[in-house]
Amino acid sequence: MSLFKSFKLHLKKSGETLNISKARNILDVLIEEGIEIDYACQNVFCGRCAVTVLEGADNLELISALEEDVKIKCNLGENQRLTCKLRMKGDVTIEL
Ligand code: FES
Repeated sequence: MSLFKSFKLHLKKSGETLNISKARNILDVLIEEGIEIDYACQNVFCGRCAVTVLEGADNLELISALEEDVKIKCNLGENQRLTCKLRMKGDVTIEL
């Protein structure tokens, strides 16, 4: 599969849909597109870039031990993911 293949990220609240290459992380694209999202470290440390995944959770990279640790530290829910290092492998809908 080409690195340039892209998938659709649906933003539930705004109704926008972004095309995101499988090579890019979600947070970078949200920032580029001017979508309002909280973030700080951009390195899976602060937990501020969390979003709630509504559909397509299986189309996201598997959660790493590091992300799991930050989610626990920040009391994030099971369906929340940190977007700063998160890549897609299929279409996803998030609450944003
Ligand atoms: S911006 Fe800090 S964990 Fe993603």
